[in-house]
Amino acid sequence: MASYDVIIIGAGPGGYVCAIRCAQLGLKTAVVEGRETLGGTCLNVGCIPSKALLHATHQLHEAEHNFAKMGLKGKSPSVDWKQMLTYKDEVIDGNTKGIEFLFKKNKIDWLKGWGTIPEAGKVKVGDETHSAKNIVIATGSETSALPGVEIDEKVVVSSTGALELSKVPKKMCVIGAGVIGLELGSVYARLGTEVTVVEYLDTVTPGMDGEVQKTFQRILKKQGLTFVMGAAVQSVEALKTKAKVNYKLRKDDSEATLDVDTVLVSTGRKPFTDGLGLEALGVQQSKRGQVQTDEHWQTAVKGVYAIGDAIEGPMLAHKAEDEGMAVAEVLAGKHGHVNYGVIPGVIYTHPEVASVGQTEEELKDAGRAYKAGKFMFMGNGRAKANFASDGFVKILADKETDRILGAHIIGPMAGDLIHEVCVAMEFGASAQDLALTCHAHPTYSEAVREAALACGDGPIHS
Ligand code: NAI
Repeated sequence: MASYDVIIIGAGPGGYVCAIRCAQLGLKTAVVEGRETLGGTCLNVGCIPSKALLHATHQLHEAEHNFAKMGLKGKSPSVDWKQMLTYKDEVIDGNTKGIEFLFKKNKIDWLKGWGTIPEAGKVKVGDETHSAKNIVIATGSETSALPGVEIDEKVVVSSTGALELSKVPKKMCVIGAGVIGLELGSVYARLGTEVTVVEYLDTVTPGMDGEVQKTFQRILKKQGLTFVMGAAVQSVEALKTKAKVNYKLRKDDSEATLDVDTVLVSTGRKPFTDGLGLEALGVQQSKRGQVQTDEHWQTAVKGVYAIGDAIEGPMLAHKAEDEGMAVAEVLAGKHGHVNYGVIPGVIYTHPEVASVGQTEEELKDAGRAYKAGKFMFMGNGRAKANFASDGFVKILADKETDRILGAHIIGPMAGDLIHEVCVAMEFGASAQDLALTCHAHPTYSEAVREAALACGDGPIHS
């Protein structure tokens, strides 16, 4: 039995970042992780591998659609699926080994196995019980089950199975037009799969700015995805290599069936806290399973903290990382802080979608007087040169004070562009502050400046 200042359960982006910061702040730190490799869902079966497949298939798209236009002639590449998966696995390997290296560098102990918390100050891993002044639950999330649908990770898959299908399916049904469904759906559409997305609501990506939702769906349709909106999936009948998806249209209760080779269930995720012993410990959880914490991420049990997907808020790796760093600061007697008003959300399709702050719908609902400055990528020279002129930047600012309240981008590198708005918002900047900042030409970021100009006297290039 070893004793530590902090034991963190879970080595995903929340847990491993928390551990590194704890160690940097001089705390004796251990992380419990039952997976073979560090990095959690994000590095092993989530963010990172999906980005490898998004990148590879985007290259294919460029070769098929844009190379010839640029005078690059020759046969388009054919898909070697096995090699694409090998490339993806190598990317995972490089990233997870990187975390192992950082653990060694920071003298963080990896306690291999699945942890339980028998009492405050104790963590049991296998037969060993370790003691810790503080414990951080960073156990992440898992796919939520859909009634009537059994995931076998072969024919009916979650995002995990979708990253290692034995072959590229001819027909795929994606249940749920959220982030996972659209990212992975667009990967397979680019590989030639006939992708049908069945979504309960009338819009894609719930919670996003309405104008972005509409443009995004239009672009995805153009890329070959088919949408059945306002349809609730009732059940999936899986055979050995095929499946039937039964759904009901909400508008008239009519029923229909889709015959496909693969079904991707992407209807949300839920906190993963099984086996931790939280109930016996006295840690409170919401009806949806989220661990309840106070403003310092401490649960009802003193010395037991929780962060990331296991608690409330958006299920995003970077939100977990920020909470991990903040908790480490709290445990080291410093002041940990997360600004929940400035957490960007990104969908890594092509084009990317990114947003921060409030949407127009939220501002309208709140009765807030605002102005919207919009600039189309069509007016951006760099985007035109790169066949990336679909989409726009929209900045929302307070009507009176000009303070930036939100930004919504659909277009090239949106996931990177959003960060200048995040920094501006952190500093309480006005749209004019952004507009007066010199932006290098020719860059995509000029579109952000132009949208900021559109909140004032108007953009130059539209
Ligand atoms: P989601 O919550 O984003 O979307 C689920 C969708 O499924 C919703 O639009 C919902 O209306 C629909 N749905 C639910 N039940 C249905 C039914 N019976 N029939 C038809 N449609 C139904 O969930 P998703 O995509 O599974 O993602 C889970 C979590 O992972 C999210 O919180 C997301 O933020 C996170 N994530 C984030 C990524 C990123 O930041 N790029 C990438 C992947 C996941």
